[in-house]
Amino acid sequence: MSFSFLFFWSLFFLVASGILLSIVYWSVKNGISPMPTSRKTKAQLLSMLPLISKGIIYELGCGWGTLAFPLAQKYPNFQVIALETSPIPYSFCQLRLWLYPLPNLLFQKKDYLNASLYDSALIVCYLYPQAMNTLKAKFEKELKLNTWVLSNTFAIPSWKPFIVNEIDDLYHTKIYLYKFVKISNAEDTGEARR
Ligand SMILES: C[S@@+](CC[C@H](N)C(=O)[O-])C[C@H]1O[C@@H](n2cnc3c(N)ncnc32)[C@H](O)[C@@H]1O
Repeated sequence: MSFSFLFFWSLFFLVASGILLSIVYWSVKNGISPMPTSRKTKAQLLSMLPLISKGIIYELGCGWGTLAFPLAQKYPNFQVIALETSPIPYSFCQLRLWLYPLPNLLFQKKDYLNASLYDSALIVCYLYPQAMNTLKAKFEKELKLNTWVLSNTFAIPSWKPFIVNEIDDLYHTKIYLYKFVKISNAEDTGEARR
């Protein structure tokens, strides 16, 4: 076995383990892995996109950019800001953007809890139940009336969806579209109506 062969494979093993460790560390820290939205769900989700007139589109936890790129293509006249904390998926998104530039798409390495969502027109996410609890409070504090929220799989507790679509897949995945229209009182804070 030559020295260069050994060197190459040791380096490869080191880099691959580093990447894997980083993904695992951030998945544990964030409470969710960067699992991308499936092809079927993505197609359905993109068919539910609402009409918006002004404001910013945020994707909260963009993973590998599975939704961020089509979102930026579907809304060429709107700024799409995709937030991600996990360094490997974030770097992958930046690389993708460098290879396929979209002028209205911006990736930020940022915790969405530290992002101000006051200027949003549409928020897209695919997270987990506890995150939806936390986001509910943030949305009710920050969102302007008529802001749209589109969530893959996980509902916002106690909000009434504008539309719910079920995917014909193994998990009967649901996609929830909300329109933030009213905060009535402390018990019934968020409500979205048709
Ligand atoms: C299930 S993946 C979804 C990825 C992408 N949105 C999609 O649908 O393909 C959830 C992503 O949210 C990210 N995430 C979780 N908590 C976050 C936080 N507080 N701030 C930013 N990103 C977060 C995770 O790192 C992960 O990549």
